[in-house]
Amino acid sequence: MTELPSMAQTYSGVFDVCASMNLELLKRYPDLIAHQYNGITTDNPMKMSAIQPREGEFTFETADTLVSFAMAHKMRVRGHTLNWYQALPGWIFKAKNGGEVDAPTLWRRLENHVTTQVRHYRGKVYAWDVINEATADETDKVLRQSTWMRILGPTYIPKLFEFAHKADPDALLFYNDYNIVHPEKRDRLLPYLKELKDSGVPIHGIGIQAHITLFAPHQIDEPAPDYRKLLEDAILAYAKLGLIVHITELDISMYPYQDLNARVLKEPTPELLELQAKRYEDVFETCAKHSDVVKSITTWGVTDDLTWLNEFPVKGRTNWPLVFDGHGNPKPAFWRLVKRKA
Ligand code: G3I
Repeated sequence: MTELPSMAQTYSGVFDVCASMNLELLKRYPDLIAHQYNGITTDNPMKMSAIQPREGEFTFETADTLVSFAMAHKMRVRGHTLNWYQALPGWIFKAKNGGEVDAPTLWRRLENHVTTQVRHYRGKVYAWDVINEATADETDKVLRQSTWMRILGPTYIPKLFEFAHKADPDALLFYNDYNIVHPEKRDRLLPYLKELKDSGVPIHGIGIQAHITLFAPHQIDEPAPDYRKLLEDAILAYAKLGLIVHITELDISMYPYQDLNARVLKEPTPELLELQAKRYEDVFETCAKHSDVVKSITTWGVTDDLTWLNEFPVKGRTNWPLVFDGHGNPKPAFWRLVKRKA
């Protein structure tokens, strides 16, 4: 595969081109990965359920294997994620003697988890998704009413950033979320981020997940004729707060997200592949236009056979959201990205 042009080289000096990674991908496509990307995110192995499945028992092995591969190939590593309301170990909200954990104990558990994980990867993970998806889906609320929030109150978010910063003062710290180029959610999140910045919380960047579709630049089935404008408006709004921007989980579904009854495809038509190439170009070119602010684009996966979208939102429905097909061959989207004129 090394005869292909490299996406990382094409965008060298513009932004990093990265992909989320797991052991299966690494086993099957090591050369493709090392050639095409200059950074990785571990997809699941750094989540809390994987890192500390039982209290005090830290299992770094899988994530370490991925990090070692990255280090050996001079690739950067984004850490995903120190805190989420999903992928949690069963013990985290339980008291030792049954019932729900009390706040002082949960504070200790949270600080210990963040500190141990960030220290372990100090000097290797250069940027952390400190908190993932903390904005509410309901439009009348800002923060998600998670169990973290219910037991600890809203200060758990600034505290997470402080714990991470203390454990590695050199790491870049991100807030990461979905649908945040959508003006409604964007405008709910902005004042909150400003509040964090203004009160001196060590937050350095915003992670725009970018799970988008051929039909909308977010996971909401609203027609959006101009993807570039929505993305550009969001980039500029976050940049105005002094945040850098990473696109952290880009993939482009062939199906609308909310309409679960969309006609199932046997394979993507040339027209759909062409539209997907255009959508990838929309994202990359908009980010390149603002490369003073956008420092990294990560796709969520590498090849179409190993994508979470084959299981979500419809279990077992084949999807084709990435720039390499199910055998690691380049799709029209890949060729569009590497033919970029300098
Ligand atoms: O590894 C087990 C396997 O042993 C078991 O047989 C199987 C049965 O369900 O489950 C496997 O684990 C699954 C894991 O993915 C690995 O495939 C989990 O059930 C499943 O919940 C997990 O889903 C992940 C999801 O986050 C939840 O953690 C997806 O792979 C991952 O792509 C997805 O990533 C998220 C980001 O972290 C945050 N943003 C959205 C993004 C997509 O949902």
